[in-house]
Amino acid sequence: MRKKVIAANWKMNGTLEQANDLLDAFASATLNVNEEKIAVFAVPAPYLLLAKEKLVGNPFLKVAAQNCYSKKSGAYTGEISVEILKSIGIEFVVLGHSERREYFGESNSFLAEKVNISLEFGITPIFCCGEPLEIREAETQNAFVAKQLEESLFHLTAEGINKIIIAYEPIWAIGTGKTASNQQAQEMHASIRSVIAAKYGADIANEISILYGGSVKASSAVDLFAEPDVDGGLVGGASLIADEFIKIINA
Ligand code: PGA
Repeated sequence: MRKKVIAANWKMNGTLEQANDLLDAFASATLNVNEEKIAVFAVPAPYLLLAKEKLVGNPFLKVAAQNCYSKKSGAYTGEISVEILKSIGIEFVVLGHSERREYFGESNSFLAEKVNISLEFGITPIFCCGEPLEIREAETQNAFVAKQLEESLFHLTAEGINKIIIAYEPIWAIGTGKTASNQQAQEMHASIRSVIAAKYGADIANEISILYGGSVKASSAVDLFAEPDVDGGLVGGASLIADEFIKIINA
């Protein structure tokens, strides 16, 4: 069975004091997490170790970096390597978020390199994909997302792709309050799974967790997560409000 994953993406938000308060709230909450259903917290890099420390009491609460560089180490001022992440016990990294693609020019081929080095170091990529509004309006979103997957992931072996978590985030739904309908999410997730099945076979496609992201709220989570191909969520804004995110984890 594929895992359910509820991931928080704090982005570039929160002071140390706020991070402490939020992490304390999650560490002390009663959360419906287990072997099959984990929660992952992608916090700003300066709080990675703090998050590890705070959440250590619950083995189903994991910590993720929001990004990494494509090289193992070296003269890349300001970047974070997977070697560094590994050395502090980080198990997940968000890659290819649309904000990274848009503001920092990250291409599908560059992301392929980041995927490779993450897997090499045993860190699980949460690989983001998703179309902008004009592609959705032109109704070419399935092909657009398929190309993102092909160019960043489809060089992997079956064993490699099996380790990836995919997050589908339509760009028009991120931070806009405009969620894709459950049906739109399900359709895209099924399309992603079929593209993976065509390349790697149905068994592997069925094992891969595909998360939905884009204005997920506690009020929308239950129905959304009930869709057969939606295996959880990548949550931005609502993950910064403890009560709201606790409800989403428990949805
Ligand atoms: P949002 O962000 O939930 O605030 O829309 C989601 C994301 O960008 O991961």
